[in-house]
Parts: sequence; C-alpha cells; structure tokens
Amino acid sequence: MTPQERKLAILFLDTDKHVSPFEPLLVTDLFPNANIFLYGNVEPEDAVRIVQDAMFPRGPKGVKYTKMFIGGYDAEKVERIVEAVKKTMFPPFEFTIIVDPRGANTTAAAAVAKTLELLMKHGLGDFKNKNIAILAGTGPVGVAAATIYALEGANVYITSRSLEKAVKVARKINEEIKAEKVKGLKALTREEIGEVIKNADIVLATGAAGVRLLDLETLKNYGGKCRVLADVNAVPPTGIEGLEPNDEDKEVLPGVYGVGALRIGTLKNKVIAELFKLAAETPKGILDYRAAYETALKLIKP
Ligand SMILES: NC(=O)c1ccc[n+]([C@@H]2O[C@H](COP(=O)([O-])OP(=O)(O)OC[C@H]3O[C@@H](n4cnc5c(N)ncnc54)[C@H](OP(=O)(O)O)[C@@H]3O)[C@@H](O)[C@H]2O)c1
Repeated sequence: MTPQERKLAILFLDTDKHVSPFEPLLVTDLFPNANIFLYGNVEPEDAVRIVQDAMFPRGPKGVKYTKMFIGGYDAEKVERIVEAVKKTMFPPFEFTIIVDPRGANTTAAAAVAKTLELLMKHGLGDFKNKNIAILAGTGPVGVAAATIYALEGANVYITSRSLEKAVKVARKINEEIKAEKVKGLKALTREEIGEVIKNADIVLATGAAGVRLLDLETLKNYGGKCRVLADVNAVPPTGIEGLEPNDEDKEVLPGVYGVGALRIGTLKNKVIAELFKLAAETPKGILDYRAAYETALKLIKP
C-alpha cells in the first residue's frame, strides 16, 4: 500500500467528561478523510490501554498514520497522561502526539511570539536577558509562556495571589528547563503588582477570564522600563486596562506597545492548525509548547 492510500486516524484523549469539539472540528476541515476517535474522562491508565490497542493493528508502517491529541482542563493530568503514553510506546510502534491542554500551549506560544513581533517591530531586540513579568502566571497558559520565555534566555517573574503557589510553580518550571530563570512572587495589591512590573521590559497578563490585573495608573507609576504588553484574557474586563482584545501594536502609553487577546487568539488558531499538518507529516514525536512556539515563530516571520 502506498503512503497516499493510508488513511489518517486521529485519537483525541481529553481529561474532561466531554471531549472538546474545538480540535476535532478543526481537523474535520483540514483532513476530511481522516478517521476521528474521541475519548473523554481519560485517566493515565486509560491512556495506556488505548495506546496499547492503537499501536499494533496497522502494523509498523501503518502506525505512522495514526496520530494522537491530548487535551483537557486538567493540565497536570494531561502531563501524567503524556508520561504514561511515552512509556507505553516503543519502536517501531510509535506515533506523533500533539499536547495542548485547553489550548494552553498554543495560546502561550502565540502570546510569546506576538510579544517578540512587537519587540522586533520597534527595534527592541529579542528576549535575551530581558525581564518578563507574567501576571497571574500560575495557570496553564502562564506556565507554558514562562517556560518558553525562560528557554529563550529571559528572566521571568510569575505572580500569584499566593506566594506559596507562585514559588511552587516557578520551581517546577526551573526543574523542567534545568536552569534558575523563573521566580515566583505574590502580587495582589496595586503596589505589589507595581513592584513586580518595575523592572519588566515585557508584561504579559495570563489571568483567568474577566480578571483585571493591571490598571493604567499602576502602569504609569511603576512601568517606566516596560515597552511591550500582552493580554490573553478576552473577557471584559480585560487583564490590562487600555488594551482591548482586538488591539494590535497599540500604543497604550507613549512608547509602550500592546497586543490584545483576540489578536493572540488568531495566531493561536493558526498554530494549532499548523501543528496538525506537521503531525500528519511527522512519523513520531511529541508536539508540545516547543513545537507550538517554533510554529508560531514561522507564522510571524514576514
Ligand atoms: N485565545 C485562546 O484560545 C485561549 C485559550 C486558552 C486560554 N485563554 C485565556 O487565557 C487566560 C489564561 O488561561 P488559563 O487556563 O491559564 O487560566 P486559569 O488557570 O483559569 O487562570 C490563570 C490564573 O489566574 C489567577 N486568578 C484566577 N482568578 C483570579 C482572580 N479573581 N484574581 C486574580 N487572579 C486570579 C489564578 O492564579 P492564582 O490562583 O495563582 O492567583 C490562576 O492560576 C484566560 O483568560 C483564558 O480565557 C485563551
């Protein structure tokens, strides 16, 4: 059988009761002939059984045309599922897996890439040795963004309402990247947020939907060094006052440029589509925040 005659099969594993229709619908248009399998409420031990049953029926060559997507709201469980799946597969019975818990990896990749785009546009260099404040950076989007920035050579400060949580999350990221690049700080009051953004070149807001984290007054009073702002919260009020979801390269204050959530979301949607195309062409491997960021970079390059 020629590769052209092989049919693509995509297994969607979701930690939620109902598999999100977002990615399966996207794939429906990208690969109209693909077979789609949906699994909800997936636990790591379920994933092991599903993978074991998916590895063999198409043989060592056919397995390359089987793909997997792992998602869901429970980002920590997604991590455990990925580890279990990695341990289960062995050569030559391996397939490509996209990991994107509720869009967090692709959203983070898009947000980071959009901030790089603003840096480049305004002749402000790259991320090396820049200070990045990620407000409410303890959720899945903030964690993935912090990891990407840190891997790109930036010093990252993630905030939380709880010092303990911020420190714990920062430690986990530092373990993942094997470097001490991320610091966790408590920031709830205007003054605390002001102290965090004081030395930041870039401020990214990754708070829960509808949570305002930074107002213009605080930005004016403390953000003297800040040149780039980004916000992933599209639900009013937005994460950063003065930055609306559709804003692109908006001069929020003189010399301070921002990108809003819907503009980041547009890139995010392109990134996930490209990741599925990449998965279709790639025989094996894990496509996580790293692949998402590489893809986002290709999409922003003129
Ligand atoms: N465009 C897209 O496709 C897309 C995809 C995914 C997500 N998003 C958006 O990206 C943002 C981040 O997503 P996520 O899943 O990482 O978020 P999340 O886990 O729901 O929230 C992120 C952090 O916000 C903080 N937070 C929650 N309620 C708060 C409050 N009342 N006051 C201050 N801080 C609060 C929490 O930090 P602490 O408890 O540590 O303080 C939490 O860890 C959301 O706004 C989401 O809507 C967009």
